Amino acid sequence: MNPISIRSLQTKKANGEKFATLTAYDATFAKLASDAGVEVLLVGDSLGNVLQGHDSTLPVSVADMAYHTACVARGNRRSQTPALIMTDLPFMSYATLEQGLESARAVMQAGAHMVKLEGDDNLLPITAALSSQGVPVCAHLGLTPQFVNKFGGYRVQGRDSHAADAMVANAAALAEAGADSILLECVPNPLAERITQSVDVPVIGIGAGQATDAQVLVMHDMLGLKIGRMPKFVKNFLTDGRNVQQAFSAYVDEVKSGQFPSDEYSFSE
Ligand code: KIV
Repeated sequence: MNPISIRSLQTKKANGEKFATLTAYDATFAKLASDAGVEVLLVGDSLGNVLQGHDSTLPVSVADMAYHTACVARGNRRSQTPALIMTDLPFMSYATLEQGLESARAVMQAGAHMVKLEGDDNLLPITAALSSQGVPVCAHLGLTPQFVNKFGGYRVQGRDSHAADAMVANAAALAEAGADSILLECVPNPLAERITQSVDVPVIGIGAGQATDAQVLVMHDMLGLKIGRMPKFVKNFLTDGRNVQQAFSAYVDEVKSGQFPSDEYSFSE
């Protein structure tokens, strides 16, 4: 089977076929997830929380991301159905164009196929620069955990009409600048639907309702392994006597059928 590429994700969007994204940080879980049909493996800087035990993603380095990307790439290569690997550029590693290009070089050479950046319209120059160098970009909008200190906590974004309109405009401008995907975290369902319908590139959601082209969850969360409070948008799939592989398959099935996320796991406003 051909590995998943940004072209296959675009085709899925065009055909109205939803796809599943899941975080992975090591070879074993990467192979299990891609074998289960997960199309995109996100090497998320959430590894700062779930692997390293930090309170935020801020302490994560480019070297951490490159190391875990290489681990995931080795596991993914052994799958019959290799996924696309998307890796986060961590906090302050793309504050200048030069830093962003160098950080992307490190994770792409470690095995990533796409990088993810958090922000808003401040991402336009780096998105264009990376795209012009052949680096696919996913622009993460909404609740961007690298901005937790600016937000004063982890809260739903885009609730007022001014913020919602700005997010719609930013998504369109980023796609125009070369972003190949948009990721929306913790935004009201109607806003996610508006953005998904207004851009040609695939939109991945987490806490963004059913209308997006794809869903993502942090692997530890969907296996019910979180230390502390589980966010509203997380569903535990390691239930009903399933093993981990079956939990991954159940997640893929529910994403593709549109069963997940139901209203229970979304923000209606
Ligand atoms: O780092 C991460 O795992 C993420 C997801 C929460 C989308 O960015």
